[in-house]
Amino acid sequence: MGAGAAGLDVAGAVPAKRRRALAAKTRGGRPRQARRRAQRPTALQRLFRACRAVFKGPGTVPAPPKVALLRAMLDRMRLEDVGLSPHRFIRTRDNAAQGNLTITQRIIYKSNNFSMVIFHLPQNAVIPLHNHPGMTVFSKPLIGSMHVKSYDWADPDYPAALSPDDQQLRLAELVVDDVFTAPCDTSVLYPTAGGNMHQFTAIAPCAILDILGPPYSIEEDRDCTYYADVPYSSQHPMTDNEQEGPRLAWLKEVEMPGDLEMCTVLYTGPPISDR
Ligand SMILES: [Fe+2]
Repeated sequence: MGAGAAGLDVAGAVPAKRRRALAAKTRGGRPRQARRRAQRPTALQRLFRACRAVFKGPGTVPAPPKVALLRAMLDRMRLEDVGLSPHRFIRTRDNAAQGNLTITQRIIYKSNNFSMVIFHLPQNAVIPLHNHPGMTVFSKPLIGSMHVKSYDWADPDYPAALSPDDQQLRLAELVVDDVFTAPCDTSVLYPTAGGNMHQFTAIAPCAILDILGPPYSIEEDRDCTYYADVPYSSQHPMTDNEQEGPRLAWLKEVEMPGDLEMCTVLYTGPPISDR
C-alpha cells in the first residue's frame, strides 16, 4: 500500500488530508474565518440589498419605515463608495469653463423594480424640469452644489386651478426652491408629493446618486415628460390670500429641450452582486 492510499505524509506524522485542510485554512498567514470577516459587503452592496427588499415594483410606494431605512443608508454614502474621486470634478470645472455642459449618467443597476444611477453635472449644466410618473425617487448629492426647484400638482379643487386662459397650463405648487451643497441629506419624492417634478441646476460640478423605484419605462407608460413653468400671475392677478398661501405656478408640457446634452457612460465603480 502506498503513502497516498494510507493518507499519511512521508514522515507519517500528519495525515495528508488533514495537512491540506490546515494549509488551506491558514493560507496567507490568516485563518479563513478572519478573511471571511474581512470581505464585509461594500456600502453599495448593502444599499443594493436594501433596495431589493424595499422596492416591490410598479404601482407600489415603500412604507415610511422602509423609506427612512433607505434614506439613512444613502445619507452615509460617499463619492468613494461609487468609485469616483473628487479630482475628477476639479477637472470637469475646467471643461465647463470651455462650455461643455454634457450631463453624464452611469447606470449601476436596473431592474423592473428599481434602478441605481449616478448623474454628473458640470458646472452650470441644467437637468430641466421633468416628472417621475408613479415613482418614488431618492436623490443623494455626493459632491458639489446645485439649485433644486420642484413642484407637485395643485389640488384640482383649488379655486385658482379654474380656467387659465391657456388651456395647456396646469396649476402646480412650489415644493422646493433651494440650494443643496454636499455633504447633505437625501431628498425623497413620491408619485404625488415631495416635488415629483423637479429641475437641477449645477452651481458647482456635482454628482448625485439617484434611486428610482420603479425606473422610467416607455412600455409601461412611465416616460419622462418635460415642462416649462410660467408665473402664476401671468394668468391671474394675485389676491392677498393667494400671496400668503402656497407658492403657485403654471406648468406646460414641452418637448425635451434641444440644448439638453446627456450621455451614458460605463459604470466602473465597485461591483454589486444580484445573488
Ligand atoms: Fe429627476
